[in-house]
Amino acid sequence: MTVTPNRTAEAKAILHNNDRGGYTVPTADLYPYQWNWDSLFSALGWAVFDIKRAWTEIETLFKAQWPSGMVPHIVFWSDSASYFPGPDVWQTSGIAPATSSGISQPPVAATIVRRLAEIDRLPPRALYEAIDRWHRWWHRARDPEGRGVIAISHPWESGRDNLPDWDAPLSQMEVTATGHYRRRDLDHVDAAMRPHQADYDRYLALIDYGASNGWDDAAVSRHSPFWVADPGVTAVLLRAERDLIWLGEALGFDTAAIERRVDRLESGFEQFWHDKAGTYCSFDLRTGQHAQAGTSASFLAPYAGIDQHTDQLIEELGTWSLACTYLVPSFDPRHGDFEALRYWRGPVWCMVNYMIAVGLQELGAHDWAERLKSDTAALIAANGMPESFDPNTGGPVGGKLFTWTAALWLAWAGGSASDANFSGLTASTDH
Ligand code: DGY
Repeated sequence: MTVTPNRTAEAKAILHNNDRGGYTVPTADLYPYQWNWDSLFSALGWAVFDIKRAWTEIETLFKAQWPSGMVPHIVFWSDSASYFPGPDVWQTSGIAPATSSGISQPPVAATIVRRLAEIDRLPPRALYEAIDRWHRWWHRARDPEGRGVIAISHPWESGRDNLPDWDAPLSQMEVTATGHYRRRDLDHVDAAMRPHQADYDRYLALIDYGASNGWDDAAVSRHSPFWVADPGVTAVLLRAERDLIWLGEALGFDTAAIERRVDRLESGFEQFWHDKAGTYCSFDLRTGQHAQAGTSASFLAPYAGIDQHTDQLIEELGTWSLACTYLVPSFDPRHGDFEALRYWRGPVWCMVNYMIAVGLQELGAHDWAERLKSDTAALIAANGMPESFDPNTGGPVGGKLFTWTAALWLAWAGGSASDANFSGLTASTDH
């Protein structure tokens, strides 16, 4: 007799097991701390069965907000020997209120807080103001020229660490001190699923650069050896700004300044369009050079409310769907740099699928939104909740028992309603 796994019970157990008291680690060992967007996505999962715990997750993250407004990508609330690079490498003490990394991650907070507000209550005014400070930091620190595109100062800031997009910009860097550290990721995950050593050398050199400049935003924007405009972070911020306006209006704040930021990002977004690739691509702000192919973030334009090229994007998605079994691979599956197993060079990530589906649904592409939801559901139903999935075989990739995969099952893919926006999410508690 075959026993059908109860994925919903499994997903709740994953959240409980990854709960470290007020924050949820992405997965034990590989990522033993609070990661910014992982944590925010976990709140969507918690909200399905414990809305108070969902709010706590977000409040814990914002306790680590820097005076500049930056919300770090990792908060080291406790010690762990299973991860590298730890606090001694980042050297943020004296700057950060809690021990943390010195870079950020895609700002999904306002969007997730809006969802929680829709099912529960409005956030405290202080949380709204903290998110607004974070958004203003992105504009000031990562778009100091006001071009309407957001830069990342480290591949990890995109959340999509080893995307082929970063290869050319990273190859410009001079890296002298290599191999002076021991990676810990390879203790937990097959090397074929992780970035190459040459990438790590550059990740570490960029941390050294930031640390030796005291994480000064002006120094980073003027001289960081890596400074690339990313459609992923820009799309996430643009949507988050719209959601912040919604929250601000509901709380009685003046949102005129946010409207101006939205206008700037809306008109800036077209700079990502790359005619030759026929899609939105990142570009190196030092050289002006666009990346050569699309990534899953190219399909986030609808999520950001950008509709200039919707027909072309949908056609592109159709072409991708013929080149792999499960949508949406993190990188163009027809391109020579595509690798089905290597982290962000191919695998399918559930929370990216969710964001793309929300945007497609809102722009009326219901069939494609439904396809992404059913692909995600099929991947989880067959393989449980790993970090990501092989777009060809559907097999599990990366870390196991992964928080955001579990959260997106609970909040979206495992739901039965057809609304791609937020099926499955109703307020309840089951302490
Ligand atoms: C890692 O260490 O691989 C993380 O993705 C960095 O954020």
